Amino acid sequence: MSEYLNKAFSPAKLGKLELRNRIIKAATFEGRSPKGIPGDSFLAFHKPMADGGVAMNTLAYCATEADGRVNNNMMYMDDHIRQELSVIIDSLHTSGAKVSGQMAHCGGFSGNKDLQRKRPLGPSRKLNTLGIPAGYPFIGEMTIRDIDAMVDTYYRTGQFMKEIGFDAIEIHFGHGYGLSQFFSPLTNKRTDQYGGNINNRMRLPLRALEAVRKAVGNDFPILGKLSLNDGKPGGTTAEDCVEQAKLLDKAGIDALIISDGTSSHNPMKMFLGESMATGMMEQETNPIAKLGMKFMLPRLFKQYPYQELYILDGCKQVRDNVDCQMVYIGGCSNTESLETVMAAGIDFVQLGRALVKDPAFVNNAKAANEAGQKYNSECIHCNRCATLINHPDGVRCPEND
Ligand SMILES: Cc1cc2nc3c(=O)[nH]c(=O)nc-3n(C[C@H](O)[C@H](O)[C@H](O)COP(=O)(O)O)c2cc1C
Repeated sequence: MSEYLNKAFSPAKLGKLELRNRIIKAATFEGRSPKGIPGDSFLAFHKPMADGGVAMNTLAYCATEADGRVNNNMMYMDDHIRQELSVIIDSLHTSGAKVSGQMAHCGGFSGNKDLQRKRPLGPSRKLNTLGIPAGYPFIGEMTIRDIDAMVDTYYRTGQFMKEIGFDAIEIHFGHGYGLSQFFSPLTNKRTDQYGGNINNRMRLPLRALEAVRKAVGNDFPILGKLSLNDGKPGGTTAEDCVEQAKLLDKAGIDALIISDGTSSHNPMKMFLGESMATGMMEQETNPIAKLGMKFMLPRLFKQYPYQELYILDGCKQVRDNVDCQMVYIGGCSNTESLETVMAAGIDFVQLGRALVKDPAFVNNAKAANEAGQKYNSECIHCNRCATLINHPDGVRCPEND
């Protein structure tokens, strides 16, 4: 038995929240909430992970308002799903897991067919290629009033999530969604107090954190997910991420999760492995569409060969500059990697694909450790799970079929 693996499997506190171990299910929007309503399929995805020993399930994506959804199958936090969400949270609690929710707003990165506004709004005017099929090819520039209204959605969502039984909230500050659109010079061209230098570009993200903190109080854990960089020239860098982390730390965030890349500019940086283009083409049955995809998709979905723990250096770089707790994410799929993360002094680890492949990974790995053996989730990082986000049955591991 390894000292560091024992640490991974032992109870720990995230802020003031007691967790049964240090392994958390990462936010993975699963496409299992048709029209934004979570039900049996959503629970069927999460329950085996809670039964399989994770300390906390992260439910994604919890939009702060209807227009904060990238598509209309995502949830937004409001009374219309109070009952359904409460049932899911209670059930996961019964399995001994705590429940976090990833709170996000897509800003201008929207393909939502049910948009209530005339167009998606972001920091600055821009083309919205994702929205072309939905009839929203342009992003409008937010006024100060729009910004204030968005901050209010974070406050209301914080109140709602705490009230219905979430144990923690993970605010999405990365991946090219609303708050990171303000942080990134690629999307923020403003000349007012919300654009320009880093303090101005962090003004809205910090206001969102302040609003959520006000809504949930000091004892309720708030995590933040950041991108190490945008993955595109002219975008944010690791040095910017460190500055962003320092500001969030100073503002009282409990823990930081360092991811990488952006859904809009370079999605493959967040999950290294086979390009999603492969899985997407596999699913397409129309030969003409397939031909078009063959030329278009490799430009967006680049190929980054898989390596275990591909963000560990970035996570340590941030950790060395902040006082809050740290959560590692990115390519942790076996006991050796868990051990490395714990030995590096990182407090918690989030797993995405390894749990999609092997929902009982935590209990399996713990039993193997007790028997003095190694354990591997057998996730092959083909990323076909991620191409099933829009599939009618939602995300699953095709290797398990
Ligand atoms: C199917 C799928 C859906 C995802 N959806 C989200 C999401 O809604 N929010 C988010 O921040 N990251 C999302 N991610 C990224 C993961 O949270 C995580 O950062 C990434 O998969 C790397 O971790 P892993 O190597 O443990 O899978 C998703 C990943 C997958 C595979």
